[in-house]
Amino acid sequence: MRQVYVNGDYLPETEARISVFDRGFLFADGVYEVTLVLDRKLVDFAGHMRRLRHSLGELDMAFALTNEKLLDIHRELIRRNDIEEGLVYLQVTRGAADRDFLFPADATPRTVVVFTQKKSLVDSPLAERGLHVITVEDLRWRRCDIKTVQLLYPSMAKMEAKSRGADDAWMVRDGFVTEGSSNNAYMVTLEGTVVTRDLSTDILRGITREAVLQCAQDLQLRIEERPFTVEEVENAAEAFSTSSSGLVSPVVRINERVVGKGTPGPMAARLRQLYLERSRASAI
Ligand code: PDD
Repeated sequence: MRQVYVNGDYLPETEARISVFDRGFLFADGVYEVTLVLDRKLVDFAGHMRRLRHSLGELDMAFALTNEKLLDIHRELIRRNDIEEGLVYLQVTRGAADRDFLFPADATPRTVVVFTQKKSLVDSPLAERGLHVITVEDLRWRRCDIKTVQLLYPSMAKMEAKSRGADDAWMVRDGFVTEGSSNNAYMVTLEGTVVTRDLSTDILRGITREAVLQCAQDLQLRIEERPFTVEEVENAAEAFSTSSSGLVSPVVRINERVVGKGTPGPMAARLRQLYLERSRASAI
């Protein structure tokens, strides 16, 4: 049975317990990270820890565990659960306190949960076919730079996509794409420029985004970090999304419009390839 980590203990998943008063459960008062595992090693662990500290800091959540300790926990779970390829999920909540909107004064201990998911992510039939995405109004709160566990709206957006026979949803605010429901969004113009929204509180600072933009730069592609409209994507040469679980995923249809030739584009393929090579080489 899968082993999980909860507040210092490694336990079978059926024996792990957290309080009904946990603020993560009652208020979504918690943050998380999802780290890619390739060849039993963690991809860009340092980047995920940097963003975790940003999320914790923005929510005034002091947190005692060091990155070294968190790395040990991640590695131990990869070992115990025999994860060759997949994901490690880490969640930190403000912990348990009697229900009150105000943060508890003695804001420790935190609840720390870590679990693994064994998944085949590199060989992905969906990435080979290319994704059909729909667009939905971005109705999330305005601090999308904080990776909180408040994921109901993205979950609803993915259900809407599924009910319309699509694979994912991209969020749109004021006519401009912000990001995917659980990934960053890109298009490639007819001139070959890679366009993705600039960093702000409107989107999550994707760890994969950073790595893929570095790949694009090293391939000497033109990059523009700016908002783009749905109409621009519809008329683009290519589109794709990036995330720790989807890596680089080509998008071939947006709503009812085919993007480019309607098959995964060469730019997305090159970026996926290079991203994978580099990730395998630098994983720890
Ligand atoms: N989601 N934007 C949003 C809203 C996300 O939820 C994610 C990640 C990303 C991409 O970030 P990164 O490249 O660091 O994975 C962008 C994770 C995978 C999830 O919720 O499962």
